[in-house]
Amino acid sequence: MKKNLFIDGKWIEPKYYTELYSPYDERMIAEIPAATPDEVESAIDSAYQATSIMRKMPSHQRATILENLTHLLEERKEEAARIIAMEAAKPINTAKVEVERTIQTYKFAAEEAKRIYGETLPMDAAPGGEGRVAYTVQEPLGVVAAITPFNFPMNLVAHKVGPAIAAGNTVVLKPAAQTPLSAYFLAELCKEAGVPDGGLNVVTGSGSVIGDILVKDERIQKISFTGSHAVGLQIRNKADLKKVTLELGSNAAVIIDENVNVEKIIPRCVSGAFAFQGQVCISLQRIYVHEKNYERFVKEFVEATKKLKLGAPLDPETDISALISPKDVERTLDWIEEAKRSGAEVVAGGISEGNVLQPTILIDVDPSAKVSCQEVFAPIVVINRVQSVEEAINAVNDSRYGLQAGIYTENIHTALNASSELHVGGVIINDIPTYRVDHMPYGGVKESGVGREGIKYAMEEMMEMKLVVINKNK
Ligand code: SIN
Repeated sequence: MKKNLFIDGKWIEPKYYTELYSPYDERMIAEIPAATPDEVESAIDSAYQATSIMRKMPSHQRATILENLTHLLEERKEEAARIIAMEAAKPINTAKVEVERTIQTYKFAAEEAKRIYGETLPMDAAPGGEGRVAYTVQEPLGVVAAITPFNFPMNLVAHKVGPAIAAGNTVVLKPAAQTPLSAYFLAELCKEAGVPDGGLNVVTGSGSVIGDILVKDERIQKISFTGSHAVGLQIRNKADLKKVTLELGSNAAVIIDENVNVEKIIPRCVSGAFAFQGQVCISLQRIYVHEKNYERFVKEFVEATKKLKLGAPLDPETDISALISPKDVERTLDWIEEAKRSGAEVVAGGISEGNVLQPTILIDVDPSAKVSCQEVFAPIVVINRVQSVEEAINAVNDSRYGLQAGIYTENIHTALNASSELHVGGVIINDIPTYRVDHMPYGGVKESGVGREGIKYAMEEMMEMKLVVINKNK
């Protein structure tokens, strides 16, 4: 299979191709365009030219295009899930969930396109304001550059393309090098759904080359990036006066209070730690269990984890498949060894089978070990014993990151206190930090990022407020 660039509503044969391999069995699955700077330039130009069309398009029409997209995706959802499973090694059942969420995301975008409000100002509140009427409107920014990660190749693209179109912008999309097929599939659907030529452009190739051009180009008004902290920081530093939204990493944690029925929450915690091999920004990486529940929690968590099935992503029985690259398998094995050297015990997993890392549980981990304090992005979880919820809150907060945190407790005061003490973008009470539905505000504090996604919130960051003042006095 050979793919072309998607520029100005057309499939453009690129000058160069690069090969795309399955992370699971390293089979070649496609040839993908490696865009040259000139090709990226023409994608930006096309997006820029199309801003005048999108800016004038009424919101009901933008909503219809986004609704069309949901119907097309609904019709081809099996194919969509297979594409994700194949290129990202996401187990097929998890890929199907992603596609359902993507449909939801575009549905929310269609709805929000019709809810762009301004406000009227009480001008006479200030001397000199008498006889004036003033109101605000929200206008599209123009061109949005969307730089997306491999872990949700359809839904995290939808979280940028959906709100951008809903707000009347155009998009240059640079998907992750590992998962370009989902983005080209979306381009096909967008064309059919009625996105005007230039409204969405997809360019693939070297992340640093394309990213650098997008970040520096003056015709681009906004960068929306999901990925690593290191790259996010470079973007922020180079973006000049562009608006920037950064969804970065995390080492998300859950607290389990002494009054919790452990048995009831085990399946949810196992899924939070290991779904899509832990390659989720809000994957459950650190668990803080009250000492009264600790032994039982560890025993049951290990038993449940050992039942997970490792295998090929397209096999419906598979729970855990390959990490995105052999380099990540190596890195995570190194991190496990480092934790062991500082006294940690591996109570499950700790080894790889091909590119599949066994779901790994560590106890007695020093908080300075990488598996605890850095973003592990792999099926590795650290379980810690704590004497109180206060101790757990301090440990959760002792992190460079702050995306989401969870707490299980039967005590409403404990829950409310944790919600105000936890320094994160979202506190999830009586569930794992991995919980997300697609209209929630989603984003972090500290090194987890800047700004919020979740359609309505992403749209706010893709529009500019304009003030209109009418002088009735003449
Ligand atoms: C992410 O990895 O940041 C996205 C998580 C999700 O949408 O569930």
